[in-house]
Amino acid sequence: MKEEILVLKKISKYFPGIRALDEVDFKIRTGEVHALVGENGAGKSTLVKIMTGIYQPSSGDIYLNGAKVVFPSPIHSQKAGISAIHQEATMFPELSVLENIFMGHHIKKSERGLLDWVEMRKRTKELLDRLEMDIEVDIPVKNLSVAQRHMVEIAKALSRDARIVIMDEPTSALTLKEVEYLYRIIRKLRAQGRAIIFISHKFEEVFEIAEHFTVLRDGKFIGEGEIKDTSPDKIIKMVVGRTLDKMFPKVETKPGPVVLKVEGLSKPGVFKDVSFELHQGEILGFFGLIGAGRSEIMQTIFGIDPKGEGEIFIKGEQVNIRNPKEAMDKGMAYIPEDRQLQGAILEMTIKDNITLPIVDKLSRVIFLNQPKEWEITEKYGKDMDIKAATWQQLVLALSGGNQQKVVLAKWLATIPEILIMDEPTKGIDVGTKVAVHSIMSKLAKEGIAIILISSELPEIIGMSDRIIVMHEGIITNCLDRKEASSEKIIKAATGILE
Ligand SMILES: Nc1ncnc2c1ncn2[C@@H]1O[C@H](COP(=O)(O)OP(=O)(O)OP(=O)(O)O)[C@@H](O)[C@H]1O
Ligand SMILES: [Mg+2]
Repeated sequence: MKEEILVLKKISKYFPGIRALDEVDFKIRTGEVHALVGENGAGKSTLVKIMTGIYQPSSGDIYLNGAKVVFPSPIHSQKAGISAIHQEATMFPELSVLENIFMGHHIKKSERGLLDWVEMRKRTKELLDRLEMDIEVDIPVKNLSVAQRHMVEIAKALSRDARIVIMDEPTSALTLKEVEYLYRIIRKLRAQGRAIIFISHKFEEVFEIAEHFTVLRDGKFIGEGEIKDTSPDKIIKMVVGRTLDKMFPKVETKPGPVVLKVEGLSKPGVFKDVSFELHQGEILGFFGLIGAGRSEIMQTIFGIDPKGEGEIFIKGEQVNIRNPKEAMDKGMAYIPEDRQLQGAILEMTIKDNITLPIVDKLSRVIFLNQPKEWEITEKYGKDMDIKAATWQQLVLALSGGNQQKVVLAKWLATIPEILIMDEPTKGIDVGTKVAVHSIMSKLAKEGIAIILISSELPEIIGMSDRIIVMHEGIITNCLDRKEASSEKIIKAATGILE
């Protein structure tokens, strides 16, 4: 019989004006993978932060192995054998992979002696090997890709040898191959009798890896149970409190003339000889594994990265875009993948974030057009279903998924002609995903040309008119909506040419 290792009883957490958790019960047993599911803002990360001593509960109790405990700080929770991979990065970008992994729990040569760098280096290498990650332990974390950084976070959590491992959306930056590694690690941890709490908005993952689940909605405990006794539809209903419309509400459109043409774009070591055309009213999907070069291509087109070889034409006219401002002037918008670093300004309000790219345009009309700013914020904030007390709230205090929605709203408000969306539904809950897909469909119907980068096959297949597949910087296939299948796409993404 598996024993209950961690039990939370009637946990509540209040923030000014917000009840993030309302008498939530939660328990996890040894040797169990327990999925914690719920919409953006449901309270999942807050619960994690209570288990890890980052926040103190406003009321309620925590029991570890049957004994009541209090975690006044993260150190206390770590000492009790709880380790977490948080949703937001907790690493020091300037420090090396090695230093980040052993930050706060250095290995020493003796009780009070010098740090044992040889041993730490050895352990780091072993950990990275176990994760099948081929990176140098001495390079600064800031030089790693988003996915690599995430894997280092995972290595860091594993390095503590914890009895309870919490993963808050560990797969949001990973794709197929990395997710497979992660599953293998999770299964190994489970076999060792550890308890794993797994948070994800992807129900395929929950059904693949977890055997138990707990659902939260609006800070309340909604239910729990065995995965084998439920179905995705039943869980979705518990999560959103209603049944959902079609997941991929793609409207058929007749693509118009070419608005963006890219010819022979190359950047040594990143991508090579990339050519494609994007039509008005079309959704052009880009699929590939991490490192395929998709984001880098878009950043080059948008003027974030300097252009290497190749030509870019907008509506037939050759352009030389040197920075994002020029790209925006040509009617482009780019919603970046790494929304924490490049997306929202956390210390600013929702309203100021949404209207930031268009402030120029608004103030050109009259000096700071206040009513217009409100109107735009209201429209896009509602469209994206951003959950906040007021539009004046700082983005900082929003849940992870709601921060992402602010970035989407901000770029949609620029009313672009060419919209590049890099993993637009990453970390977004199932209900809002449908909303984002509907908005994409609607925009395409209105004639906006959309590039959709996504690592989720169902999304790419469900939403794209055409799909470009990349492998290590090269386009390996271009498929029409009618002929696209998972097999064909995966083959091309792993470099198998037909
Ligand atoms: N530091 C804070 N100050 C004020 N409010 C906060 C703070 N942290 C979280 N909240 C609020 O608490 C609620 C729950 O947020 P939480 O981050 O736990 O959601 P979540 O379930 O993890 O969502 P997501 O899926 O988007 O990550 C939200 O309404 C959020 O705005
Ligand atoms: Mg969260």
